[in-house]
Amino acid sequence: MKKYIAPSLLSADFGNLQRDIEMINNSEADWFHIDVMDGVFVPNISFGMPVIKAINKHAKKTMDVHLMIVEPDRYIKQFKEVGADILTVHYETCPHLHRTIQAIRAEGMKVGVSLNPHTPVSVLEDILSEIDLVLIMSVNPGFGGQSFIEATYKKIQKLTEMKNEANPELIIEVDGGVTDQNIEKLAEAGANAFVAGSFVFGSENPSETIKRLKELA
Ligand code: DX5
Ligand code: ZN
Repeated sequence: MKKYIAPSLLSADFGNLQRDIEMINNSEADWFHIDVMDGVFVPNISFGMPVIKAINKHAKKTMDVHLMIVEPDRYIKQFKEVGADILTVHYETCPHLHRTIQAIRAEGMKVGVSLNPHTPVSVLEDILSEIDLVLIMSVNPGFGGQSFIEATYKKIQKLTEMKNEANPELIIEVDGGVTDQNIEKLAEAGANAFVAGSFVFGSENPSETIKRLKELA
């Protein structure tokens, strides 16, 4: 399966956002990972539509938008308008997940569903064939730079078994604490898209770091 590296702009320098976007454009990264936080579902606020629109103006790669917000259904159309290509909602925020998935697809975006560390992959059993991507949180959502939760490997292995049966095309993305120390093992477990924020932007040469992660994955 194709592997995707998705640097998270949450760790970019917001005062030099265009510079960091160009770095990603010119790197071996595949996607822009864009974290939207509302201060309600998660204890942090990141950015909203005007910033995403500005990112989209310069970004030349897939816009992978991760919504950590309550009632995401209210904004699906707007996220499409500001440039989202993949729209991922949290299972924990969607009481009518099937309806939400359909609404995202109706706007022509790829559909992702994310799970918090405490949410078992089994909750997706009846919906797996309807979605393009599962985003496994390997930290509690809300902040960059947290340490990786080891139980994630097992979770990805389980999801990979479910995927082989129900939806072989499914992308398994992992988000939180991804580094050159765990990416190989995550790929072995079955993940094929990798978000990295602080590890990329905190390194001396972010573009080289992206290249290295891609080689290891
Ligand atoms: C956390 C976000 C992540 C975050 C990852 O809630 O979903 O995408 O930017 O940052 P690192 O790679 O630093 O853990
Ligand atoms: Zn994220």
